Amino acid sequence: MITLKPNVMLHGADYNYEQWLEYPDVLDRDFELMKEAHCNAMSIGIFSWAMLEPAEGEYEFAWLDRLMDRLAENGIGAILATPSAAMPAWMAHKYPEIRLVRENGRQPHRMRQNFCPTSPLYREKVRQIDTILASRYAGHPALLLWHVSNEYGNNGCRCELCLAAFRKWLQARYGSLDALNEAWWTTFWSHRYTDWSQIEPVDPSMHGLMLDWKRFGSDQVLDFYLAEIKPLREFAPHIPVTTNFMQPDVGLDYWAFAPHVDVVAWDSYPRWHSESDESLVAMKTAFYHDLHRSYKQQPFILIESTPSATNWQGISRPKRPGMHQLSSLQAVAHGANGVGYFQWRQSRGGEEKFHGAVIGHAGDENTRTFREVAAVGELLAQLGPVAESVNHAEVAIIYDFQNEWALDLAQLPRSIEKNYQERCLTHYRPFWQRGITVDIINSTFADLLQYKLLIAPMLYMLLPGVAGRLEEFVRDGGTLVTTYLTGLVNESDLVFLGGSPGPLKELLGISVAETDVLYEHQQQSIQLTRQLFSFPKNDSAAGYRVTHYADLVRLQTAKALAVYKRDYYEGWPAVTVNQFGSGSAYYLAARYDEPFLADFYGELGKELGLEQTISNPLPKGVTAQKRVTDSEECIFLLNFEPLPQTVGLGDMLALDALSGEEISVEVVLAGYGIRILRWPR
Ligand code: GLA
Ligand code: ZN
Repeated sequence: MITLKPNVMLHGADYNYEQWLEYPDVLDRDFELMKEAHCNAMSIGIFSWAMLEPAEGEYEFAWLDRLMDRLAENGIGAILATPSAAMPAWMAHKYPEIRLVRENGRQPHRMRQNFCPTSPLYREKVRQIDTILASRYAGHPALLLWHVSNEYGNNGCRCELCLAAFRKWLQARYGSLDALNEAWWTTFWSHRYTDWSQIEPVDPSMHGLMLDWKRFGSDQVLDFYLAEIKPLREFAPHIPVTTNFMQPDVGLDYWAFAPHVDVVAWDSYPRWHSESDESLVAMKTAFYHDLHRSYKQQPFILIESTPSATNWQGISRPKRPGMHQLSSLQAVAHGANGVGYFQWRQSRGGEEKFHGAVIGHAGDENTRTFREVAAVGELLAQLGPVAESVNHAEVAIIYDFQNEWALDLAQLPRSIEKNYQERCLTHYRPFWQRGITVDIINSTFADLLQYKLLIAPMLYMLLPGVAGRLEEFVRDGGTLVTTYLTGLVNESDLVFLGGSPGPLKELLGISVAETDVLYEHQQQSIQLTRQLFSFPKNDSAAGYRVTHYADLVRLQTAKALAVYKRDYYEGWPAVTVNQFGSGSAYYLAARYDEPFLADFYGELGKELGLEQTISNPLPKGVTAQKRVTDSEECIFLLNFEPLPQTVGLGDMLALDALSGEEISVEVVLAGYGIRILRWPR
């Protein structure tokens, strides 16, 4: 792993210095306030192309030289961006081919991330400016990290260049039109292609085609990124590279992208204070932090977050007092080695002039936001050594982009509310509530054998090799949990003949005979048959509720743990378990909500001896997460309720990580409060 600065947590913001060149007092003040806020890393140059190259081939680097020098003089690192996310107007007008094409044609120059990722001309322009940046600043003492472009996403450009590249990509993938026709099942509706030029990504009835179009779009952006980093690697091989990822799904397969960044960084904008139950937002945000840590199984950087509110959420509420510290430390608890903001100083014009910032239009530090940011900076400075620790998980949830895309495209018996991502979150929640660390992994290359429990919700598409990997995991003693809508299709979205769960039949010891789907008002529930482990204290007479999907399952070698209670499939298995090798494989045949999943994973967790950060039960809205080194555990207690709450520590005796004070019995957390404890291993 690359440690940017050993024993240091990064703290900083997107700094749009170039917007204020005519205001020297403002710039002077910025550096004073950065010190006060304990900033040690600022993201710069992200949208600066028009200021760096005001006319074709005419460069103005003096202002950036000055900015880099000032950062260095102040001991602040530069997270220096390449400016490809926003092309200058002169370029867009002189070279229309670089502009994005949508179904309604070539787009005018507007907004950002508006380029064609295929255009050789745009790539050349980017190569030129990136080469100058890299060669000019490679040896600069401020340079800490490359921030490549900004929030890459698959913008679905469908210009002639992209279409030609897509057809080439298909040729490489399939080799022949016959193979493609077979993989896409094109005899359906007489879609057989007889020439590559007939292929256009415009047909929602052709799932194989549309899935490959998504894959191509993702690959093309990755290819663009790889071209972007070439000059950076060439001139500044010692400087690590990142780009700011986003909460999925933005059309990128981040599993394919992550191996090519040195450090994962992401932009997180939760809708704090939008739900009556804040813990829902907290749990969801925790899941995405865990996902970003898991991309490389390494600490990541929360490179953008708002210090107060956004201005694009429809209703953008300011963080309540305490929430800024809580949300920042939440990221650290889940593996962040730095907290950054959009934006340092509120811009005066443009779309984001009312977006939250460390320094608002009033221009001074006498704001709650500034004080809370400065306090986080101070806290992170004290937590430097935590940057050397890692999170360790015994549980993993599989979340796969290709599966998500294929599921989204599929016309299933219940096509609405498939909600793949949300279901992954539902399975995650019981662990978050118990303070059990979870990795969010992919199905194809994550090392499964390191986990005790592996959960694969709705793994509809089994990519090559995945069935074997799951078998190996269970045979070796692992516990696997799968659900309805698993093992239906192969990587081309072709249905496995012989029925679902396809190549997982032997592992799960079942076959699916039929699938019922339910409207919102329709009732189904299950009755536990109490074999194997004895869960549920609260198996009420009504039983656990089933919604949306219910598979009717025939047992082969598996046993039923629960059966349906009504309708024509009353008594059919609804939860099954199969012994396979030295492990167990569960099938949750229907969609179950909180109460069932909480009990189910609670029991399973006990049986598997899963490690909880704090052995006592946690109050609602409180989670405990930990990072470890060889000698010590650092425990983060986080209270997402506005009211104080008490956490019992059992027989644990810990030290307050900040004051060194000894702590035992219990800890009282303020509303939106945190506490960080140290505990020798
Ligand atoms: C994204 C972008 C930033 C800014 C923020 C606003 O994360 O990367 O440039 O637009 O959103 O929330
Ligand atoms: Zn294009």
